[in-house]
Amino acid sequence: MVTDTVDGRIDVGHVRDIPPGGDLLVRVLDTEVGVYNLDGEFYAVRNYCPHRGGPICRGVRTGTMMPSDEVGRLEWGLEGRVLRCPWHRWEFDIVTGHTLFGIDKRRLIRYEVSVENERIYIHLRPEELRRLNGSGDEAKGDGNGHDG
Ligand code: FES
Repeated sequence: MVTDTVDGRIDVGHVRDIPPGGDLLVRVLDTEVGVYNLDGEFYAVRNYCPHRGGPICRGVRTGTMMPSDEVGRLEWGLEGRVLRCPWHRWEFDIVTGHTLFGIDKRRLIRYEVSVENERIYIHLRPEELRRLNGSGDEAKGDGNGHDG
């Protein structure tokens, strides 16, 4: 479990640990966070499905069929950017946190990620910082992905 924080951020590894297209599941405080490298940009989401709390980061990482204006034209896209929950197969965009089908407002619980001196840092969410500082707030998200 990673608990050492500096300025509210946690070092989760070297950039070579997660090459482009790669991912890593890390333990942060009392939860798990999936860290993803999408074409050199890093993203992090809590391993908690906003539908009913399933382990979304342990589901399939895939893409999706893209909308098309042309009848019969089928185009695959967003490869590696879509997380499909293993419990009920809801799919979410890692980058935006939104569901793919767009009829539900719940979002993935995302973390800010930064890279400094080739180290990857996850920035704790405000509720986690409060809990770490002893206020007693719960670290669990409200499931809607809102910050704060
Ligand atoms: S808990 Fe993830 S889709 Fe239902």
